[in-house]
Amino acid sequence: MFNSWRRAVSIAQIFIGEILFDGSVAIDATVGTGEDTLFLASSVGPSGQIFAFDIQEQAIAAAEQKIKQRHLDKRVKFYLASHEALVSLVKVKVNAVMFNLGYLPGGDHSIITKAESTLAALCQSMELLLPGGRISIVLYTGHEGSLEECTAVEKYVSKLDNKLYNVIKLNFYNRKNPSPFLILIEKEGPRSEKQAAEIDSGYSQPADY
Ligand SMILES: C[S@@+](CC[C@H](N)C(=O)[O-])C[C@H]1O[C@@H](n2cnc3c(N)ncnc32)[C@H](O)[C@@H]1O
Repeated sequence: MFNSWRRAVSIAQIFIGEILFDGSVAIDATVGTGEDTLFLASSVGPSGQIFAFDIQEQAIAAAEQKIKQRHLDKRVKFYLASHEALVSLVKVKVNAVMFNLGYLPGGDHSIITKAESTLAALCQSMELLLPGGRISIVLYTGHEGSLEECTAVEKYVSKLDNKLYNVIKLNFYNRKNPSPFLILIEKEGPRSEKQAAEIDSGYSQPADY
């Protein structure tokens, strides 16, 4: 599938898609329209598993339908629950977590992700993340509460240990404000035995790096 950089969501999918393989496990922390859920379900193969969260019935119902239409429903477990419940509901380690914050496009704009619950879910995601795993966060500015949420997330990720995590912020420079931005997190470590062997042999890093 072609993914343009025009949309923050597409960039997040490129970043996450790179590490997913048949049998991967991933979380969609904010189902919304189900676009990321569908992307994740399509990327983890028949033996993969997706856990998908949203607090709005409307979002879960529409996403469930999308997933069923593509016969991917065996791979996705939906939860009509806040992502604060991640660790109590997801009992396995995961390769990836996607967050797309803010409100449901075309839905009630007063139902938004909030700093406190987003941070709780992010901390829990870090606990569940496998070595080599990745987290994408798409953040929006301009709506009420967004500044508080963005500030809280940025403060948290900027303090992550740089020996364990690579953390990147991406902005659209040539757009008028407010535009979304991305935070991408990668947990250090090999994703597979093959990659571990490559790292051990020095193959995956140039000698002068
Ligand atoms: C920007 S939308 C997500 C877009 C989605 N990823 C997509 O592909 O369309 C944000 C979603 O987060 C949901 N949300 C808000 N607070 C939440 C929470 N505490 N836990 C889980 N989902 C939440 C909203 O209901 C909304 O559907």
